[in-house]
Amino acid sequence: TRAKLRYEDITFTSKSQRQAVEEIISELTLASAALKNIKDHFILELKKGLANDGETIAMVPVYVSGRLDGSETGSYLTMDIGGTYLRVVWVVLEGQSQVKILQKKYKIDEHLKVGEAKALFVDEHSIIASFETEIELGFTFSFPVLQTTINSGTLIAWTKGFNSLGVVDKDPAAFLQDAFRRRNVPVRVAALLNDTVGTLLAHAYRHSKTVIGLGLGTGSNGAYIERVDRITKRRTVDETGAADTAEMVINMEFGAFDSERRVLPVTMFDNKIDRKSLASLYFINPGKQIFEKMIAGMYLGEIARNILVHLIDRRLLLDGRCTKEMNTDWAFDTSYMSTIEADTTLELKDTQLVLECYLGLAIPESSATMATTLTDRQIVKLVVELVGQRAARLSAAALAGILEHTRGVTWSEDDGGVDIGVDGSLYRYYPGFEADIRGGLVDISQLERDMGLAGIDVDVVRMGPSIDGSGVGAALCAL
Ligand code: GLC
Repeated sequence: TRAKLRYEDITFTSKSQRQAVEEIISELTLASAALKNIKDHFILELKKGLANDGETIAMVPVYVSGRLDGSETGSYLTMDIGGTYLRVVWVVLEGQSQVKILQKKYKIDEHLKVGEAKALFVDEHSIIASFETEIELGFTFSFPVLQTTINSGTLIAWTKGFNSLGVVDKDPAAFLQDAFRRRNVPVRVAALLNDTVGTLLAHAYRHSKTVIGLGLGTGSNGAYIERVDRITKRRTVDETGAADTAEMVINMEFGAFDSERRVLPVTMFDNKIDRKSLASLYFINPGKQIFEKMIAGMYLGEIARNILVHLIDRRLLLDGRCTKEMNTDWAFDTSYMSTIEADTTLELKDTQLVLECYLGLAIPESSATMATTLTDRQIVKLVVELVGQRAARLSAAALAGILEHTRGVTWSEDDGGVDIGVDGSLYRYYPGFEADIRGGLVDISQLERDMGLAGIDVDVVRMGPSIDGSGVGAALCAL
């Protein structure tokens, strides 16, 4: 739960402080008209991507077709890399939407993320015990891959802080398959899939009206079911011989949306993150994934930190004191934002705890100075809320775009509405994130109805947590 701080509740200590905060509010707040404008541009970009026509979003057909009804059965091994962990899951699809799973999770060392590709793939595979007969594996690889078949493709670029050498333009499934072969492990990589595709499939196994899967975590992306005749860049899809009425899942890679910055309300705080990606080992993608850098869990804390440091530099916050932690890139973890958002205490005690325990703002007891004032904490909380809410509302604009594009084609308002499977740490743990997405959808729809346009009936749009996309979803993909 979360109680939003109201601007009126803040006791400002000076006029310049009030003005600076007002400026930040106006830069980070997205009114309905701005959201609708972003949504409209999103649909344009999405169509360009389907046509292969100078798009920013890749819109990759992934060779998954047909719908699920929950009756599917079989046993599969799945493996997942894409963020903090490597996960290996043994999945038994029992039919009737039931599954059994057995899983193991391993933290991926930072040095593996940026080292030689061989180290990343070999270390991964040595985890798997040996089996007697050949096992089929679904490999979830949460990066932009240009898919060529259901179990092959080429990595377009690394995102989210990975930069393992020699993998771009190569087939990640082949790396894994080779690693198995070298060690005589009888596993066949039967499917290579994006996490959002797994999210969609896992949700569809339990909810038959599912046509969209969203991943709102460290990175942000979506997949949806498209009708094949609307994929105008047909070359690749044609080879499958699919009929026009057939459907195929598209991995959108919408984190790259509007990297040209035509409509996104990019601020100096966002630009700073992007500019820094020039110089770091960690981020090698300046000018890329601009949308993702405004909405994904990896970046939100850093945006908030940039804003706070800006206020500190102007001596409008914390009396101009900056700690080592506050001055360290990426030190303001997005999970701190969740704690601050959830802080409903009058004195903002939890916010104080974060500032003192994690951001070095405690002052020795002997000192007469207060570590933080209530005004400081109020401003910190407001900044956090603005950054979090902007991320959710921007995500809503993307979702509204997908919904509008697919309405009447793969789902309809008078035929049971639509289910959306969602996964990712922001969606799961960030207080109020889903509510703010919903708020954004309602605002866009309301504005459109006021304009005499056919705004979507948000009541028949159901978002829900997709359980175990990289396990169950990957198994369904392998099947
Ligand atoms: C990044 C990746 C994308 C993935 C998303 C969520 O945007 O490029 O492939 O789906 O993160 O994990």
